[in-house]
Amino acid sequence: MVPIEVNDVSLVYDTPAGTVPGVKDVSFTIDASQFICIVGPSGCGKSTLLNCIAGFLNPAAGEIRIDGKKVDGHGMDRGVVFQDFAQLFPWRTALGNVSFGLEMKGVDRDERDKVAREQLRLVKLEKFVDAYPHHLSGGMQQRVAIARALAYNPSVLLMDEPFAALDALTRDDMQRLLADVWRETRKTVVYVTHNVAEAVYLADRVLVMTPHPGTLKLDMPIALPRPRDPLSVEFLEYQKELLGHLGHNAADQKTNGNAHS
Ligand SMILES: Nc1ncnc2c1ncn2[C@@H]1O[C@H](COP(=O)(O)OP(=O)(O)OP(=O)(O)O)[C@@H](O)[C@H]1O
Ligand SMILES: [Mg+2]
Repeated sequence: MVPIEVNDVSLVYDTPAGTVPGVKDVSFTIDASQFICIVGPSGCGKSTLLNCIAGFLNPAAGEIRIDGKKVDGHGMDRGVVFQDFAQLFPWRTALGNVSFGLEMKGVDRDERDKVAREQLRLVKLEKFVDAYPHHLSGGMQQRVAIARALAYNPSVLLMDEPFAALDALTRDDMQRLLADVWRETRKTVVYVTHNVAEAVYLADRVLVMTPHPGTLKLDMPIALPRPRDPLSVEFLEYQKELLGHLGHNAADQKTNGNAHS
């Protein structure tokens, strides 16, 4: 069974000023346990595509299948993490946030607490189970969001620039942590970023989109052993090549607050 199939997906937004293309004729498949990063210029349609896979948006043409089943709205087979820190429930503790999906599934309290604690351990927040979101840093809140997305054991994890609002050092820590979490859980991950170093650090394959109206222009496997060294020559070569495809020159990368450098 192919975990994710995206077949000729297009989406158009209706606005008072007319229709705006969101994403155009995108096709790709992802194997089980693969980590895919989608990169592309701002406004090209990365979030639109991710929201289609999540089932929050309905493609105007084409279809998406998760484990062979056509996507029709959001389902518990997909966990989603966004950029915004405000995605957590402010009135629930870290434990309460993480156990939310299990509550919806009707899992009993002892089992919920056990699973939620285990997920919080995975993101190294076992000491903060009783903390409320406003007492946690941005990086910690994003870790709770990851734990929450994983708690009901989805087969697919969808992430839209989850670390983009964090400072560069915290982001580096979070990338390492996510690489560890992925190694332990082996979820199929689709991760949107416009940080090329982040993509080379995390991904098995990087999908590059064209500028708006975005479609796929390149599918680049990253054949580097893990854990990856962002200062290695091979790493920098990948980064340079991807930046070239995105129309940046390598000198611009420093200003992007890139990973581990
Ligand atoms: N709700 C909306 N209504 C109308 N147009 C929209 C809406 N959301 C996105 N768009 C348009 O669709 C296109 C793709 O937007 P999208 O947010 O998917 O891009 P993106 O690649 O995620 O950008 P960024 O890197 O800035 O997050 C853009 O041109 C945008 O203006
Ligand atoms: Mg976006």
